[in-house]
Amino acid sequence: MNPEALAAFDLTGRVAVVTGAASGIGRASAELLGAAGAAVLCADLDLDGAQSTAAQLAEAGTRALARRVDVTGAGELDALVDAAVTDLGRLDVMANVAGIILQAPVVDFDDDAFDRIMAVNLTGVFRGCRAAARVMSAQGSGSIVNMASAAIDTPSPGLAGYGMAKAAVVQLTRVLATEMGPLGVRVNAVAPGFVETAMTSRRFVSTDGTVDEAHRQAVLDAVARSTPLRMVGRPEDIAHAVLYLASDASRFVTGQIVRPNGGVAMPW
Ligand SMILES: NC(=O)c1ccc[n+]([C@@H]2O[C@H](COP(=O)([O-])OP(=O)(O)OC[C@H]3O[C@@H](n4cnc5c(N)ncnc54)[C@H](O)[C@@H]3O)[C@@H](O)[C@H]2O)c1
Repeated sequence: MNPEALAAFDLTGRVAVVTGAASGIGRASAELLGAAGAAVLCADLDLDGAQSTAAQLAEAGTRALARRVDVTGAGELDALVDAAVTDLGRLDVMANVAGIILQAPVVDFDDDAFDRIMAVNLTGVFRGCRAAARVMSAQGSGSIVNMASAAIDTPSPGLAGYGMAKAAVVQLTRVLATEMGPLGVRVNAVAPGFVETAMTSRRFVSTDGTVDEAHRQAVLDAVARSTPLRMVGRPEDIAHAVLYLASDASRFVTGQIVRPNGGVAMPW
């Protein structure tokens, strides 16, 4: 294989910030961006988890730092981006991955739950985009990657708050792409299908960590059966899309939604 052909995926000399880096898709994305050569600031509400990801990256030879961030906190994302610039020198990739899921039928969805899911999944992404866009536009380069969901394509009972927030993240992505394109900054989103992570395992993992294996297999089989590729996703499947969008491999791509979803939704 000609290594030059893969140079567009090389992030050597670049700096990436990943929110939600303690777990699941964020952790896999931080690890892959680091493996591609980026220095990585691993950010999460769960500082221990973010530190564990950063330690794993450092062990693999990547420059990595950890920082606690609550994406719902005013000013926290500005401070996070400032930390990347101060401690790692610049900001090339902002991956807004942190998210939560809260499910209830609309008639039972209480105000606190609605406010919470919007604060984390929408306001947090907006503030992450805004903070990164300010630095990147001044720099004249950069890539922002936002985490949406297959819930933007397929309405499911219980997912009104989650789906609304993710759909709004898509429109934020598209509007910001039009604003930032002329300034050399690309903005895209990833809309994954079902991936087995802490977020999706709660129904078969009890609080003490015990896995109800029969329930787990039943859930995974049901998801796989309803997916054209007959499989559930792994965090790495989504991280590959994040790397593509973060790197020069996607230099001609902005305002787009990449769908690693096993084929559950196939919009034009
Ligand atoms: N797992 C799936 O099937 C799936 C599918 C589509 C989209 N997604 C999206 O992918 C993203 C990652 O999900 P995951 O499945 O890896 O879940 P996860 O629960 O494994 O990871 C989410 C991370 O976000 C962090 N987080 C939560 N609230 C935060 C806050 N206020 N500030 C900072 N960090 C916070 C958590 O501590 C956690 O480490 C989410 O945006 C989710 O909506 C997941």
